[in-house]
Amino acid sequence: MIKEYINHPLRDLNSFHVEERAERVITFDQKEDLEQIFAEGHTLDNWYVLGGGNNILFTRRFGGTLIKPVGKNITIKANLDDSVIVEAEAGVEWDDMVEWSVERELWGMENLSLIPGTVGAAPVQNIGAYGAEAKDVIERVHYYDAKERRHHTMGNAECRFAYRESIFKHELRGKAIITSVEFRLSKSQQPSLGYGDLAKEVEARGRVTLKNIREAVCSIRRSKLPDTAVLGNAGSFFKNPIVNKDVSERLKQEYENMPVYPVSEQNCKLAAGWLIDQAGLKGYRQGNVGVHERQALVLVNFGGATGEEVISLSELVRERVKEKFGITIDPEVNIL
Ligand code: EPU
Repeated sequence: MIKEYINHPLRDLNSFHVEERAERVITFDQKEDLEQIFAEGHTLDNWYVLGGGNNILFTRRFGGTLIKPVGKNITIKANLDDSVIVEAEAGVEWDDMVEWSVERELWGMENLSLIPGTVGAAPVQNIGAYGAEAKDVIERVHYYDAKERRHHTMGNAECRFAYRESIFKHELRGKAIITSVEFRLSKSQQPSLGYGDLAKEVEARGRVTLKNIREAVCSIRRSKLPDTAVLGNAGSFFKNPIVNKDVSERLKQEYENMPVYPVSEQNCKLAAGWLIDQAGLKGYRQGNVGVHERQALVLVNFGGATGEEVISLSELVRERVKEKFGITIDPEVNIL
């Protein structure tokens, strides 16, 4: 079913809670609805897919159509010897999907507990946390190509997943609307506890069970990341920069405690949160916006902020990090 809203307020549709409006918002719950929305002769030139609105910053009125999938079905497609293939519609809350898997003793999503957003948004930026990424469990992605007016399916390899990257942010940007995602979840125990304090947090809860891992991840996230219901934010505002090893080794000589994560032979990833923190900006406030006091990677709205205020703070953060370390950090958040 399609529902249409005109001149719709966006405050509750974006986790930053900026007060902008959209000319039109359309919600749909069946993939066939898209054929009607994009029917021939029906011009829809400026549209954007809105998931949970957790990774988006509106800087002005959106003069087009926001298309929001709201279908929430989760279906088991195949029950195999050691794994299960599950298809979830794009409108399922990501954390409901993780909870569903943990309740059924299926492994693979537990480290991704409590990431805000929807199933349909997960492949776009290949969401990740605590050493796991959505790409590790995605089997295939179903989407509607609004240019070709056709439904398609893409296998994991074709999605070209990388750190916070996929084909949906590039070639298929402005074309694809993800309608559902199939996941492969494992029936056998496959814990991945290598990241930070995760192993310690799990141990404190007893045995290595799916439930204990999920609880540990939720507790670490709650202790660091602000609740969007209380303080508007979009999670990590910046991506962790990937730099050449020469660059990180040079910095490491000066800053012994700087976190460095290897990504390939030549490159490694630095912690943008650490860089911002060391640049003296953790807890920095500018009007209605600020750098979160417990996690410098997160910019927050103390209430009533406009998108422009957030942008101006993010530019200051980028400049300071560039000045101090010579490193450029780029937003992870989509700016509209
Ligand atoms: N750090 C600081 N000060 C800070 C923040 C971080 O010194 O204010 C240091 C930490 O002590 C740690 C390092 O920087 O040594 C990395 O910090 P953390 O483990 O908290 O993770 P992160 O790199 O800041 C990434 C993801 C998060 C994800 C966490 C946990 C990105 C951009 N962010 O953050 O994802 O939850 O790892 O795996 O990759 C998101 O994408 O919205 C998000 C929250």
